Amino acid sequence: MRQTIQFTLNGLTTSVEAEESDLLLDVLRGQLGLFGARFGCGAGQCGACAVLVDGKVAAACHTEIGALAGKRIVTVEGLGTPEAPHPLQAAFLELQAGQCGYCLSGILIGAKALLDGNPDPTRAEIARALDWHLCRCGVHNRVMDAVALAAARMREGAGA
Ligand code: FES
Ligand code: FES
Repeated sequence: MRQTIQFTLNGLTTSVEAEESDLLLDVLRGQLGLFGARFGCGAGQCGACAVLVDGKVAAACHTEIGALAGKRIVTVEGLGTPEAPHPLQAAFLELQAGQCGYCLSGILIGAKALLDGNPDPTRAEIARALDWHLCRCGVHNRVMDAVALAAARMREGAGA
C-alpha cells in the first residue's frame, strides 16, 4: 500500500508517496529527479548508488524507503554546487580524478563520510574506507590523491 513517507533530503524536508518496499535509489531517480546516485550492480556490491543516511554510507539500491521515515539523507547533489563545490568535488576536478565518472558520486559520498569522521586519514585509511567502491576505469590513485588534497585543505580551513 502506498503511503506518505517524510524525511530530510539534502537539508530539505521531503515527502514521497511510495510503497514501503520501494528502493531509495528508484525514488531518488524516478520520483525526485536526483540522478547523482547511480545504478551499478543493484546488489549492494559496487558503491555507485551510495548516499548518506544519518551520516552513514548506505547503498540506495538496497535501502527500502519505508525504513527512512524521519532520517537525514544526503546525496551527492547535497555536497556542493558548481559555484560552491565541496572541497572534495573541487579536488577531484583539479586532479581530474575520474574518467567516465560513473563511480564518482558514490566515491564522493564515501569520501565525505570518511572525512566527517577522520579529518586526517592515512593513505591506508582512505583505501580502506573506499574499498567498497568499484571503479572500472582504474582512477584509484588519483582518487586517493584527491581525497588527501581535500582533507588537507579542509584542515587548513578549519585552522584558519
Ligand atoms: S548499485 Fe548499489 S551498490 Fe551497486
Ligand atoms: S571513473 Fe569510470 S568507473 Fe570510475
